[in-house]
Amino acid sequence: MNILVVHGPNLNLLGMREPGIYGTFTLERINGAIAELAAELGCTVSFVQSNSEGSLVDAIQQASGGFDGILINPAAYTHTSVAIRDALAAVALPVVEVHLSNIHRREEFRHHSFIAPVAVGQISGFGPDSYLLGVRALFNHIKKEIVTQA
Ligand code: DQA
Repeated sequence: MNILVVHGPNLNLLGMREPGIYGTFTLERINGAIAELAAELGCTVSFVQSNSEGSLVDAIQQASGGFDGILINPAAYTHTSVAIRDALAAVALPVVEVHLSNIHRREEFRHHSFIAPVAVGQISGFGPDSYLLGVRALFNHIKKEIVTQA
């Protein structure tokens, strides 16, 4: 099983970016923890981070064929991007949306997600654990899909 982990804009700054909200873990450290969990579960993970909407759309389009599911923190594009939502809908892979912070208890403009309607589910508010919970949820979801299709 291959999972693509997609990180949106400004997540490359984790560790020094608003640590009161996003914590002190760097993206590298989060990716390391995801890779460790993936090895434990017996799946492979690849990572992509971009600050640009078009590059994220390209990465999602390229996931078709090579990956069984997408774990995505679309960051600010969560609240603005029809293009990322359409790309996810187009590739038709199972998607889990994650956020470090609880977007629903923050500013009102963060309450709406363009991504949620094309995702299996959303995990929000658990810091780096959101990613780890997301990997487990996506892994279990894909496994169930494989059993149902067999
Ligand atoms: C975020 C929440 C978004 O509202 C914000 O724009 C981010 C990070 C999170 O992980 O909590 O950049 O996706």
